Amino acid sequence: MDQHISHIFGRDKKKTMGTFKLLQISDCHLGSTPNDTLLGMDTDQSLIDVLEQAQRTESPDMVLCTGDVSNDGGPVSYARFLCLIDEFFPSVPLAWLPGNHDDPDNMLKVGQHPLELAHHVNGWHLIFLNSRIPGEEGGRLGRAELQRLDRELSAHPASPTAVFLHHQPVPVGSAWVDQYVVEDADAFFDVVDRHSQVRLISWGHVHQEFHQRRNGVSLIASPSTSVQFLPNSDEFKLDPAMPGYRTYTLHADGHFEMQVVRAEKKMYSVDMTATGY
Ligand SMILES: [Fe+2]
Repeated sequence: MDQHISHIFGRDKKKTMGTFKLLQISDCHLGSTPNDTLLGMDTDQSLIDVLEQAQRTESPDMVLCTGDVSNDGGPVSYARFLCLIDEFFPSVPLAWLPGNHDDPDNMLKVGQHPLELAHHVNGWHLIFLNSRIPGEEGGRLGRAELQRLDRELSAHPASPTAVFLHHQPVPVGSAWVDQYVVEDADAFFDVVDRHSQVRLISWGHVHQEFHQRRNGVSLIASPSTSVQFLPNSDEFKLDPAMPGYRTYTLHADGHFEMQVVRAEKKMYSVDMTATGY
């Protein structure tokens, strides 16, 4: 873990006055067998398509996966994920956090890759939260995680801050998935509202793009590297949009730019009539 963090701090020194590019992928849903499918989609192949697109287009300083790395929480799926990241972005630091489909114990066992808590890069403070409730689809941060968030923010009031978690803390406009809004979202925003340095909050879970502003903070969802959920649909419905990723360019003065990029259009054999997953 120390080696991993010092690598990031080393980059920080060189890039203090420049920009820091974060590549966010989410909801890869890899199975325990290579080329396992989710609603017909080969999730290894769709992740590879996204990573190929990112490799052609970006030079990230860090790769971040905001949960549901695995579909079944099996250690083999995490080993394959780490191999793929290493293949496409060797020597780029990786941060990951658990989603409802993940097993944090197995994430830790494979390759000894830590579950990140926080980093300081290019003047920014990145905070990674665990919103997973074991065995449940929905999310909750809980007292300990909210206290940690408050401590992190209190300790670095002058650092523009990005907060990452798996579940959405606000409804995104689809009743079926909004039943899984972070249960203690009110307490979460009570903490956020006390710290004016928070610039953005971002998550996965909803498998779609979303952006809203709240009290000057950008609230952002990122697409999945696998199947996409149709926005603004109250019932489960898939979106034919391609798998994708999001980038954030973090400037030392606290402003940032972001962009969603999707893999090149191709036909995946996805069951578009599926009514759940
Ligand atoms: Fe997911």
